[in-house]
Amino acid sequence: MIENVYKTFSGEREIAALSNVSFSVKENEFLCVLGPSGCGKTTLLNIIAGLEKLTSGKILVDGKEVKGPGADRGVIFQAYALFPWKTVLQNIEFGPKLRGVPKKERRELAVKYIKSMGLSGFEHAYPKELSGGMKQRVAIARVYINDPAVLLMDEPFANLDAQTRSIMQEELIQIWKQFRKTVFFVTHNIEEAAYLADRIVILTARPGKVKQIVDVNSVLPSDRYGPEGILSAEFTRLKRDVWNSIKEEIKTI
Ligand SMILES: Nc1ncnc2c1ncn2[C@@H]1O[C@H](COP(=O)(O)OP(=O)(O)OP(=O)(O)O)[C@@H](O)[C@H]1O
Ligand SMILES: [Mg+2]
Repeated sequence: MIENVYKTFSGEREIAALSNVSFSVKENEFLCVLGPSGCGKTTLLNIIAGLEKLTSGKILVDGKEVKGPGADRGVIFQAYALFPWKTVLQNIEFGPKLRGVPKKERRELAVKYIKSMGLSGFEHAYPKELSGGMKQRVAIARVYINDPAVLLMDEPFANLDAQTRSIMQEELIQIWKQFRKTVFFVTHNIEEAAYLADRIVILTARPGKVKQIVDVNSVLPSDRYGPEGILSAEFTRLKRDVWNSIKEEIKTI
């Protein structure tokens, strides 16, 4: 739940990044945030993560006000943020280890996620031995294993090539269908948002305000994840409408 959030960065000059942003994210929904570059998407995500303070307003997760970072919110960034000196298994086990989960139990959990992320055989590999897509899968597993209430993702696939990116999108949807989670996903990419999201929140140009909320499920069939889905006329129409809405904002910059 995001209530009347304002954020102004004060420095040499004041920058109003967010202005009166309010919307709620439903349990287990996949919500994408789109908006022109610099409109405050990352700022909003960082505020929800507790990494950035808001100027005024309130963020509630499961009814509790966010005061700082917490295990109820798992963050996945564009840069994979893995420990380079730890293996895949050790990276994935890190959260449970920190929480004091006994070795046998956390190993079993980690192996379960390694399997579902298609990382079997790479348990003892180090991040530098993995492809970008694989690193991002480790990062996703590392967050999922902590069972957070909300997954926060800031352009997690932006550094990947187009093919790996589409594969990762499919995989993320499969993982999400399997384990569910409330996902707050920031992206620049309209096609990505249309493909992944239950709903898309479009922000205005800076300072970001909610411009429009698009209920993707009401315009696209739930089987859109297949190749037919993304070639459908509805999918194209949705992308065009969203693009027109964002283009309007870019013109004001
Ligand atoms: N730490 C900071 N100090 C000062 N200004 C900041 C800081 N972080 C972000 N800003 C400003 O706030 C505005 C919003 O930035 P933010 O990174 O949230 O945008 P964004 O929507 O994520 O952009 P992009 O799509 O390019 O990633 C920008 O004008 C930026 O310059
Ligand atoms: Mg950003």
